[in-house]
Amino acid sequence: MDNAKLILNGQEYEFPTFAGSEGEVGIDFAALRSQTKAISYDPGYGNTGSCSSAITFINGEKGILRYRGYPIEQVAENASFVEVCYLLIYGDLPNREQLESFQHDLTYHTMIHEDMKKFFEGFPPSAHPMAILASMVISLSAYYPGANDPENIDLNIVRLLAKIKTLAAFAYKKSIGQPYVYPRNDLSYTADFMHMMFAVPAEPYQVPDVLERALNLLLILHADHEQNCSTSTVRMVGSSQADLFASIGAGICALWGPLHGGANQQVIQMLEMIQADGGDYQKYINMAKDKDSGFRLFGFGHRVYKNFDPRARILKQSADEVLGALGVKDPLLAIAKNLEEITLKDEYFVERKLYPNVDFYSGIIYRAMGIPTDMFTVLFALGRLPGWIAQWKEMRDDPKTRINRPRQIYTGATERSFVPLNKR
Ligand code: SDX
Repeated sequence: MDNAKLILNGQEYEFPTFAGSEGEVGIDFAALRSQTKAISYDPGYGNTGSCSSAITFINGEKGILRYRGYPIEQVAENASFVEVCYLLIYGDLPNREQLESFQHDLTYHTMIHEDMKKFFEGFPPSAHPMAILASMVISLSAYYPGANDPENIDLNIVRLLAKIKTLAAFAYKKSIGQPYVYPRNDLSYTADFMHMMFAVPAEPYQVPDVLERALNLLLILHADHEQNCSTSTVRMVGSSQADLFASIGAGICALWGPLHGGANQQVIQMLEMIQADGGDYQKYINMAKDKDSGFRLFGFGHRVYKNFDPRARILKQSADEVLGALGVKDPLLAIAKNLEEITLKDEYFVERKLYPNVDFYSGIIYRAMGIPTDMFTVLFALGRLPGWIAQWKEMRDDPKTRINRPRQIYTGATERSFVPLNKR
């Protein structure tokens, strides 16, 4: 491929270019500063590739999302979440023997050390479950020292995938003052989580198939999304050779933000606010268009998708199916659909290419499943965990990985002499 040419201060520089497997072109600026003394400047990294990756491909203009080359629509239709975990982390769909072995490992590592239950007791009942989840995941480093040793990586990947649903369910039980329900080895990954969430010691609880299937779909749709904010955080922290648990804990914190994974909770709170306000969604659309209002339509817009988010399209259809199967009629779904319909014709949203994203309909399904609103982002984290792990492993397996250390353009005070206190 031709080199890219840059002319700066009358001097011409050339930089190599390369294309990814889907034809995206990258300009290799590794020598930019050493050659030109200038740096690239791209706040928010909207035009900057932090890495090359073989895990997930997104084409935002065409609404394409593929996990290791498989279209999300086909994966969502045919795979189990455990298969997707294996696919993202190890690169190919598992054969029957590999899947059975992986499933066995995930089943027999779900228990957490009994001492970790004491950590839950230290949190106030009002603690947000994302705060609990992040601290619990990082605390796993204390129970599994040597997590960075190469021979421990695969075992710790299994431990984390297996234990995160136990930690999430225990956080929920703690928040409602109910006893913890321990994992069961006779249930699937998703059924076991739902059982730990909703079973009570007083009576047996059979996880309805529709809930097991809905959760499987939701976790798959959230499983990876290339270099989003939380995944970039996992790579950033992991590039210092912090261990898997610490890196994933940082990713959980980044996901919590309302502009990222925390948006699913914000969407429901926004829809409830609109409902409480008489369902006047046009009022809120007008507020979202008014910069001075400080209000945004949560669940709309995306840095990459400038057409539809394929996950939102699947979730919109699933919302009708799951609520129908559960016999749930949720007025928030009608408000959501009206919001989408109006924005599709409103110039403000059309001009800025603002369409529903993955968070817009997911909360309505979680709500119908009985998941409390403050657990929505925890469910996002459960789904995104295999993607974070896959990206962390890809980064750590790459011998060319260097610690991530961006530069800056300094705009502060130039040199000045210190002024002693008695002269200020
Ligand atoms: C996720 O990156 C990923 O892949 C993330 C994710 C994943 O799977 O990991 O897909 C998951 O985080 C989805 C996004 C969830 N967040 C929300 O739903 C929060 C609401 N959306 C926005 O805040 C916003 O759209 C972002 C954060 C998603 C994207 O922000 P950008 O790319 O920085 O876009 P921007 O803020 O610069 O907005 C561009 C314009 C602005 O208007 P102008 O200044 O050009 O006039 O669009 C406007 C914004 O004001 N805008 C919105 C809007 N989102 C953008 N206006 C009203 N409502 C909105 N939701």
